[in-house]
Amino acid sequence: MDPTAKNFVFAGLIYFFISACLGLLMVFYDMDQPQLIFAHSHLNLLGWVSMMIYGVGYHILPRFSGNPIAYPKLMQMHFWVANISLLGLVSLWGYSALLAGLFAALQVCAIGMFVLNMFMSMRPTPTEG
Ligand code: HEM
Ligand code: HEM
Repeated sequence: MDPTAKNFVFAGLIYFFISACLGLLMVFYDMDQPQLIFAHSHLNLLGWVSMMIYGVGYHILPRFSGNPIAYPKLMQMHFWVANISLLGLVSLWGYSALLAGLFAALQVCAIGMFVLNMFMSMRPTPTEG
């Protein structure tokens, strides 16, 4: 398995555990502040769910069309941009609209990197017709 795909899976598993602990704390201590709910839901959805899909997707989706990943460097860059922007977004949302907005825009760029790489990796090869 490609190291970057594996790193996405590992990162997703770590976010899963952290956001489950956060959810548990929220239940026990009745902490339903918007910042915590936002961090819990987005660490789960952009961290656990999306990163698991990125890891498995990079590994398996291009193989369905018999192609390698179209842009391996973009995949490596995606890993860092997705993680840094997620951590920045969940730490700053509710505190600084400007900084949270910048990290949100960076997160959208990360999503775009995956979408582009998947489209290009899964396009039919010339012999497929
Ligand atoms: C141990 C596991 C979990 C616990 C204890 C937990 C607990 C909680 C708590 C206490 C809230 C706040 C509810 C409120 O005050 O409105 C919440 C919200 C939320 N959780 Fe979890 N959660 C867990 C796992 C997950 C998972 C696996 C996901 C998604 C993959 C998830 C997605 C969400 C979302 C999207 C919200 C926001 C819902 C809303 O806005 O009403 N949670 N969770
Ligand atoms: C660029 C990525 C994203 C950004 C910047 C973003 C931003 C936001 C913001 C600003 C809110 C409103 C929070 C509030 O007013 O309390 C929100 C809520 C929510 N978002 Fe996202 N979101 C992103 C991606 C996603 C994705 C991919 C999912 C699902 C797979 C998702 C699911 C939700 C849910 C369930 C809520 C309501 C629960 C909550 O308040 O946290 N978001 N998001």
